[in-house]
Amino acid sequence: MQFALPLLALAAAVSASSPIEAAWNVTRSYNDVSQQVVGVQITAVFVSEEYPQGLESKCSWVEKGRIYGVSCTPDTFSVEPQDDGYTLKVQQTIEKPTKQVVYGEGEVPRKGHAVIPVNARVA
Ligand SMILES: *[C@@H]1O[C@H](CO)[C@@H](O)[C@H](O)[C@H]1NC(C)=O
Repeated sequence: MQFALPLLALAAAVSASSPIEAAWNVTRSYNDVSQQVVGVQITAVFVSEEYPQGLESKCSWVEKGRIYGVSCTPDTFSVEPQDDGYTLKVQQTIEKPTKQVVYGEGEVPRKGHAVIPVNARVA
């Protein structure tokens, strides 16, 4: 296997040079407070070229027929859960490479995770 090492080195170089797509990895969990009331928690980790380690935010809200009391920390991140129970609209103020607000929208399972790409940026 004389080729193994150079090929591995090449693969590593290629993956290191391809840019990181700016996106959130959003994980959702919930607990049934009662038959009608559900507490929802999400963790959103924003990753981009400038934030390879990720910026973590957490939000929670209550679903009781409607959606109540959405709150997030830090407050640079916010989420609008949609009535379908799956779709989340997210936005975050970031400082790098320049100060801007990034937006995304995607479906996240009730219990599980999904990647929501940045679909708009406003300086
Ligand atoms: C997203 O987060 C979940 C939970 O922490 C993790 O299991 C998963 O590997 C992450 N996915 C990506 C693409 O980072």
